[in-house]
Amino acid sequence: MKLLVTGGAGFIGSNFVHHILENRKDVSILVLDALTYAGNIDNFEKWMWGHDNFCFFHGDIRDEKLVGNLMRNVDKVIHFAAETHVDRSIDNSDAFISTDIKGTQVLLEALRGTHVERFIHISTSEVYGSAEKMPMDEDHPLKPQSPYAAAKAGADRLVYSYFCTYDIPAVIIRPFNNYGPNQFPEKLIPLFITNARENKPLPVYGTGKNTRDWVYVKDCVRALEKLLDVEINTIKGEVINIGSGKDTDVLTITDTILNKLGKDRSLIKFMPDRLGHVQRHISATEKAKNILHWEAKTTFLDGLESTITWYLENEEWWRKIKEGRKEFKEFYKRYYHF
Ligand SMILES: NC(=O)c1ccc[n+]([C@@H]2O[C@H](COP(=O)([O-])OP(=O)(O)OC[C@H]3O[C@@H](n4cnc5c(N)ncnc54)[C@H](O)[C@@H]3O)[C@@H](O)[C@H]2O)c1
Repeated sequence: MKLLVTGGAGFIGSNFVHHILENRKDVSILVLDALTYAGNIDNFEKWMWGHDNFCFFHGDIRDEKLVGNLMRNVDKVIHFAAETHVDRSIDNSDAFISTDIKGTQVLLEALRGTHVERFIHISTSEVYGSAEKMPMDEDHPLKPQSPYAAAKAGADRLVYSYFCTYDIPAVIIRPFNNYGPNQFPEKLIPLFITNARENKPLPVYGTGKNTRDWVYVKDCVRALEKLLDVEINTIKGEVINIGSGKDTDVLTITDTILNKLGKDRSLIKFMPDRLGHVQRHISATEKAKNILHWEAKTTFLDGLESTITWYLENEEWWRKIKEGRKEFKEFYKRYYHF
């Protein structure tokens, strides 16, 4: 199987590529990634570069010619590439509209008339907005509350429209909040682990009582692997949540990280609430269980402990970003003011 992976140098994408190369001899991976500030070549370990089933293309999903050429030579596509940081989208949404919506449209157009057997679109639980009913199933209303979420909702529904209009063999996946190795240290969990390590403030929005459904990335990529293999007619045109069915609030996470690192609560810096902040997220899990025979295996505490250990053991990886990348430093200073 020849698989095109867009955004494979990012957090979830690189964990997925790692998992597939380690576990599947029958899948040959072609990564297309523009290496934006969030893309990271260091996310591919040495052994991966030398692997027969791994090929990397540095390019943009909005490049119609490049995408058209790649699409003609693959059997399946999994589409991760996106601008992904809510706070950055509040600061300026241009790149989100362009990559998340236009980029997805370029891929969908390129798909038409090819023999690609399935298009796995990675959407997000953020498209739902705050939970209006709990748990949140795939029929929950879509009320995106940030420009990021709105751009992803646009892409999500665009994919659905191509399924309805052109019979594109697409499935739409809505993962809840992922965490684990290789996550860019601007996102909550890696930011808090690395800031605590550096004795820097941990910026908590509002009361810190907002909750999310946290999925350990290694659980998520197991679900995504299953999507490569299930009978296409069981997933075509479907939306499937990938969540744990449990939620945890930000303050509990903050306290757990501080405790594990032996730091005290004086590092917590309460900030004015994030604009449009989603209050609560908790996923329904039945559909993933029924269709993919998948459920999250890792408890949040175990996953958080493994994640903390990874960041402590891979200090060079995150210091290179926090100290070396001006995109990180400039945004952080401008947005959080410290
Ligand atoms: N991280 C989460 O908790 C989470 C939860 C639900 C859904 N998602 C979705 O999963 C996908 C991956 O998320 P992530 O956290 O790994 O993101 P990430 O920001 O870590 O990685 C995104 C990757 O996409 C690449 N990219 C960005 N613009 C591109 C373009 N125009 N062309 C080609 N490549 C481009 C980047 O270089 C980067 O490697 C996204 O679609 C995101 O919306 C993420």
